[in-house]
Amino acid sequence: MSEYAVTMEHITKTFPGVKALDDVQLHLRSGEVMALLGENGAGKSTLMKILSGVYTRDSGDITVFGKKIEGDLNTKQAQDLGIAIIHQELNMCQHLTVANNMFLGRELVKNGRLDTKEMNRQAVEQLAKLGIHDLDPDAKVGDLTVGRQQMVEIAKALLINAKILVMDEPSSALSNAEITEMFRIVRELRAMGTAIVYISHRLQELHHIVDAVTIMRDGKYITEGRFEDFTMEQIIANMVGREITNQFPRDKVEKGKEILEVRHLNAGRMVRDVSFEVYEGEVLGFSGLVGAGRTETMRAVFGADAKDSGEIVLDGKTLVIKSPEDAIRQGIVLAPEDRKREGLCTKLSIRNNIALPNLDIICKGGFLGTINRKVEDDMVEKGKNSLTIKMAGPEIEAGSLSGGNQQKVVVAKWLARQSRVIIFDEPTRGIDVAAKVEIYEIINELKKEGVGVVIVSSEMPEVMGISDRILVMCNGRVTGEVDPRNTTEEEIMTYATQFGDNAE
Ligand SMILES: Nc1ncnc2c1ncn2[C@@H]1O[C@H](COP(=O)(O)OP(=O)(O)OP(=O)(O)O)[C@@H](O)[C@H]1O
Ligand SMILES: [Mg+2]
Repeated sequence: MSEYAVTMEHITKTFPGVKALDDVQLHLRSGEVMALLGENGAGKSTLMKILSGVYTRDSGDITVFGKKIEGDLNTKQAQDLGIAIIHQELNMCQHLTVANNMFLGRELVKNGRLDTKEMNRQAVEQLAKLGIHDLDPDAKVGDLTVGRQQMVEIAKALLINAKILVMDEPSSALSNAEITEMFRIVRELRAMGTAIVYISHRLQELHHIVDAVTIMRDGKYITEGRFEDFTMEQIIANMVGREITNQFPRDKVEKGKEILEVRHLNAGRMVRDVSFEVYEGEVLGFSGLVGAGRTETMRAVFGADAKDSGEIVLDGKTLVIKSPEDAIRQGIVLAPEDRKREGLCTKLSIRNNIALPNLDIICKGGFLGTINRKVEDDMVEKGKNSLTIKMAGPEIEAGSLSGGNQQKVVVAKWLARQSRVIIFDEPTRGIDVAAKVEIYEIINELKKEGVGVVIVSSEMPEVMGISDRILVMCNGRVTGEVDPRNTTEEEIMTYATQFGDNAE
C-alpha cells in the first residue's frame, strides 16, 4: 500500500476561457493536515472538486490509498472511497433538520417510511463523537449559526466514514470561539488517522493545525513541504510570486471635516444607543466579537433593517433612510459580509452585478430609461481593473468566479458611483493576501478622495493595520474608542468583552 492517502499527478482542467489547472500535483498522507494554499482563482477549489467527484478532470492521474482511479470519478464513488468535502460555500438544505441533512441521499427507511428516530439517534451519536452534546437533531439547519452548520457537515463526513476530508475555507465565516472548536475537532480527526486538506486565506491561523503545505499559483503547482520548513514570508512569496513588503498599507491623510454623524441609534435588540462620527480623510474601524452588533448597526444605517430611533446626519443634513435605495441615492453604501445571500446575484453576470445598483447612473432618464452601454462598459472596466478580478469575461455568471473574486465584485460595484460614505463589512473575507492589499489600497484612495470609510472587521491585524480610529462594540453598544497606532489587542479585547459573555 502506498504511504499516501491521495496522490494527484499532472491534473489539468479547462473551463471555457480559463485553464483552471495546468499539470498540478498533490500528495496527502493519513493522519496529517495539509494546507492547500494559493491566491484567489489559483485553482484550489477546482482541484478539490475533482478529488471529490464534483468536476471531472481533463487529464491526469489520481490514486486513493494506492489504488489508481480509472476514468471519471463521480461524487457517489468518491464518497464510497471515503472522500468527503465541506464546500467553501456551504450547501446544506436550510429547511431540513440536522439529521435529515446528515442522511441526505442515504436516508434510513423502516417499513416503507423514513426512520427518523434511528437517524436522529445516529446523528446525536456522531455529533457526540465530535464533543457536541447540545445540538438537537430535529433543529432546522437554517436556524443554526454557520459554525454549527459546519459541525453538522463534519459529523456527516464521519457518518460516511470519511478517511479523507477536504475543508474548503472552513474558518472564513466563523467566530473565534467556533474556530477554536473546529480546530479541536480537526485535531481529533487527525489523531483518528483522517487525511485532511485545509484551505484558508487566514495564514496566521495555520500554525495551530497544519503539518504540511502545498502551494499553487495561477492553476499551477509551485511547491510542497513540511509547514515548519517555510517561513510565512516564503509561503506568501510562493503564493503571490513576489514579496509583499507591507501587508497593511495605511496612508496618512489630514483629517478633514465631519461627513457622517450617527446619533443615538437604536434598532432591534442588537443596536443600543450607538453614536459615532466619520470624518473626511479617515478610516473608521469597528472591532468586537462576532455578534456584538456591528453588522446590525451598519444595516440600520444603510436602511436594510428598521431603526427604532436615532438620527443619521450626512454633511450636516439629517437624512430619512427607510430603505437601502434611500441610502444609496443619498450617498451611503454598504458592502455586506454575506456575499452569497446579500452581496451578489450569483446567477447574473458580473456586468449585471456591477450595473444593478448603479442603474440610476447608467440609464438615461432615470431608472426606467434606456441603458447607456458605454457608461456601463466603462463602469465594468473600472471595477475589473481596480481590483484585478480574474475572469474569462464580464458576461459570465458571478457564481462561477472563485470565492475571493466574487468578493471583489461586491466591492467593485460601489466604486462605480460617487458615494460620500462606504461601509465595508468584513471586506476581505476569503480574499487572498495580495488581493487584500489591493482592497486596502482602494480604501486608502477613497480616504484621499475625501470619502468617509467605515470598516467592520473581526480580523484584529486588519482592523488595527488599516483603520485610523477604532470603535469597539459589545452587546449592541459602543464600549470603547482606541487609536490603532497606540493600542494592543488586549485593550481591544477588554472593551469587546466589557459585558461578560457576548451572547445574552
Ligand atoms: N464552474 C466554473 N465555470 C467556469 N470557470 C470556473 C468554474 N469553476 C472555477 N472556475 C475558474 O477556475 C479558476 C480557479 O477557480 P477556483 O475556484 O478553483 O479558485 P480558488 O483557488 O478556489 O480561489 P478562491 O481562493 O478565491 O476560492 C478561476 O479562474 C475560476 O473563475
Ligand atoms: Mg476556492
